[in-house]
Amino acid sequence: MSLVVDALGKRYGDSTVFSNVSLRVAPGEFVAIVGESGVGKSTLLNCMAGLDSWDSGSVHIAGTNLGTLDNDARALLRRQQVGFVFQAFHVLPHLDVAQNVALPLMLLGQQDDARVQDLLTEVGLGGLGARLPQQLSGGQLQRVAIARALVHRPALLLADEPTGNLDPTTAAKVMDALLAQTRAQGAALVLVTHSQAAAARADRILQLRADGIFE
Ligand SMILES: Nc1ncnc2c1ncn2[C@@H]1O[C@H](COP(=O)(O)OP(=O)(O)OP(=O)(O)O)[C@@H](O)[C@H]1O
Ligand SMILES: [Mg+2]
Repeated sequence: MSLVVDALGKRYGDSTVFSNVSLRVAPGEFVAIVGESGVGKSTLLNCMAGLDSWDSGSVHIAGTNLGTLDNDARALLRRQQVGFVFQAFHVLPHLDVAQNVALPLMLLGQQDDARVQDLLTEVGLGGLGARLPQQLSGGQLQRVAIARALVHRPALLLADEPTGNLDPTTAAKVMDALLAQTRAQGAALVLVTHSQAAAARADRILQLRADGIFE
C-alpha cells in the first residue's frame, strides 16, 4: 500500500477536528476526499505527509510508520516518497520555472535537466522553463506546482484543492496533467477538492466527517 491511515484522530485542546479516520490507497489508485469547509481535509492531508501531528492512530507511507520517525526522518521520507501540491502553488518567486521544478531533485542530489524538460513538456509548459513565476498565469503556475510534485517520481501524491483558484476550463486542463502524470508513474493520488468535476474522475470518493471517513 502507498498509504495506510488507521483510526487517525486530531484535536485542538478539547475540540475534536476528526476521529477514527481510516483509509488505504494502493499504488496507481486515485482517491478524492470531499467534505464541508472546516471539517479537517487540509489537516488530514498534512498529517498524511507528516507535516502536522495527530493525537491517535497511525499513518504509514510505503510501509513506513510515520509515528516512529523524528522530523528529520519524516522530511527525508517526504523528499523520497511524497509529492505535495498546495492550493496556493507555493512556487519560489526568485527561481525560474525550470529551477522550481528541479528543486526536489536537487534536494536529493539527483539533478536531471532532461527529466525537468520532459515533465514541463508533459504538463504543457515546454519552452517556458526560463520564465519567472510572475510571468505565468494561475493555471500555468499550478502546472509548475504539479510538475515539481512529480519530478522525483514519488510513490504518493497529495494535492490540496489544486484547481481551487482556476476557471473550469483551466481546472480541467490541470486535472488532465495531474492524472496523466500520476497514472504514467503508477503513483497513488489523494486529492482534496470541492470540485464535483474533479472528484468525479477519482476511482473512489471519500467524505470526511468529524466521526470518520466514508465512501
Ligand atoms: N491552531 C488551531 N487551533 C484550533 N483550531 C484549529 C487550528 N488550526 C485549524 N483549526 C481548525 O481545524 C479545523 C480543520 O481545518 P482545515 O483547514 O483542515 O479544514 P478544511 O476541511 O481543509 O477546510 P476548507 O475546505 O475550508 O479548506 C477547522 O475547523 C479549523 O478552524
Ligand atoms: Mg482546506
